[in-house]
Amino acid sequence: MIHCSVSYSIMSFRCFIAEICMTLLLISECRTERKWNYEPVSTEAISSDESLIKIDVKIERINRRSYGLTAKVDWNYDTTEETMVEANVLRSSTGDANDYKLLPWAIPKQSLYDHMNTYYKDVSMKNFKHCSNVPQFEGQFQPPLPKKTYFGNKCVIDGDGLPEIVPSGFYKIILKCYGPNQPTWNSTSVFKITPNLM
Ligand SMILES: *[C@@H]1O[C@H](CO)[C@@H](O)[C@H](O)[C@H]1NC(C)=O
Repeated sequence: MIHCSVSYSIMSFRCFIAEICMTLLLISECRTERKWNYEPVSTEAISSDESLIKIDVKIERINRRSYGLTAKVDWNYDTTEETMVEANVLRSSTGDANDYKLLPWAIPKQSLYDHMNTYYKDVSMKNFKHCSNVPQFEGQFQPPLPKKTYFGNKCVIDGDGLPEIVPSGFYKIILKCYGPNQPTWNSTSVFKITPNLM
């Protein structure tokens, strides 16, 4: 996923290189080879009230080893200090629904605004800058999140920052957002990881 770890400066450097690669459209050619490939299996987003938030998301192939995330989000409700986000990753070796086990990779439950000032600002904001109209800011995020339609156009999902070796299997990523007297929405994406036998 688009997880450039920010805790290590070497990773930030990798993110920087990744941006140059994207600019040059040499996505798979100019970075350290990961030893795994992925393909999207399914992706969906569900909102408890589409008049308040409606999400359309799909994953499109970009080249042999990369996919792009294309999304449209009609954000039409006011976020508050109590708007929470969390993300979890589960793995199954077979893809069977009953087989998924929670992995330690997660974004622990946290307020949206804390998230905006940390992970979002350090990773997502930069990675999505050139392919979407997600909020860009310096310093602290000024709440609330603007009510508008957010677009992403083939945002590259390249696995940068993830381990060189990832066990084969099906990986399910569940992202959730909720708050008191607010709609609940979530997205579930499944990816199949296979060894890169080159
Ligand atoms: C996603 O949200 C819908 C609607 O609120 C809910 O029914 C469903 O259980 C949620 N899915 C997950 C994986 O949390």
